[in-house]
Amino acid sequence: MITFDKVSFAYGTQEVLHEVSFSINADERVAILGGSGGGKTTILKLILGLIRPDSGKIIIDGEDINGKTEDELRAVRMKFSIVFQEGALFDSLNVKENVAFCLREYTKMSEEEIDRKVRELLRLVGVEQAMELMPEELSGGMHRRVAIVRSLAAYEPQMFLYDEPSTGIDPVNVDQICRLILDLSKDGKGFIIVTHKIVDALKVAERFLFIKNSRMVFDGNRNQLTNTSIADIQVFMNELHYKA
Ligand SMILES: Nc1ncnc2c1ncn2[C@@H]1O[C@H](COP(=O)(O)OP(=O)(O)O)[C@@H](O)[C@H]1O
Ligand SMILES: [Mg+2]
Repeated sequence: MITFDKVSFAYGTQEVLHEVSFSINADERVAILGGSGGGKTTILKLILGLIRPDSGKIIIDGEDINGKTEDELRAVRMKFSIVFQEGALFDSLNVKENVAFCLREYTKMSEEEIDRKVRELLRLVGVEQAMELMPEELSGGMHRRVAIVRSLAAYEPQMFLYDEPSTGIDPVNVDQICRLILDLSKDGKGFIIVTHKIVDALKVAERFLFIKNSRMVFDGNRNQLTNTSIADIQVFMNELHYKA
């Protein structure tokens, strides 16, 4: 579904990605790993056409997205459900209204249907009781879960994109987020999770990409990841022994 063909991207003179290539099918469970500032979020923005590569091609479902207009890109973005790192809810709306907002914006549902759908979605992530709360009253984990269902509310994506979904969240909530990520991909919908926390990536993903110095230095399964001779990944893996 997604192919990067020698994609390079720089912010000004700072090269963030250098000739990065990979192909990901819509049903794959992929983690993109790398240190902070390594270009992970940049990859997600490129997939959505929010920024354009300096060179190389990005092909989504067989189509090069580079020449696309804003309108055409909107159709591409609808294929994905994205939860950005900031994952921010609207401060001034309560939980229920936050989720309903997307339904009003993107669908033609009646208020009654919206109400039913919002309850169903919030039940799915176990925050039904918090429906009337304001975002500031939620724990970090609940906040993230509401942000995930809000992005699910409007349409059926082919694939989910998560940017650091477990960052800044306590371990119990991380486990809930991981379970939600797996639940949502049960019917064959894949995801890309971008994270600098290998521990969490191992909980959900089957395939692992690793970026280092703007380059994709590893692309393999769990077994290959565990047995890699790449020193930088071993350093990452060592975190496991301290934190697990
Ligand atoms: N809008 C921007 N303008 C300039 N530099 C940016 C911008 N966004 C990100 N960067 C820089 O690009 C590099 C990669 O960023 P990013 O993709 O966000 O990394 P990651 O998500 O892996 O932490 C970082 O050094 C970051 O400071
Ligand atoms: Mg990032």
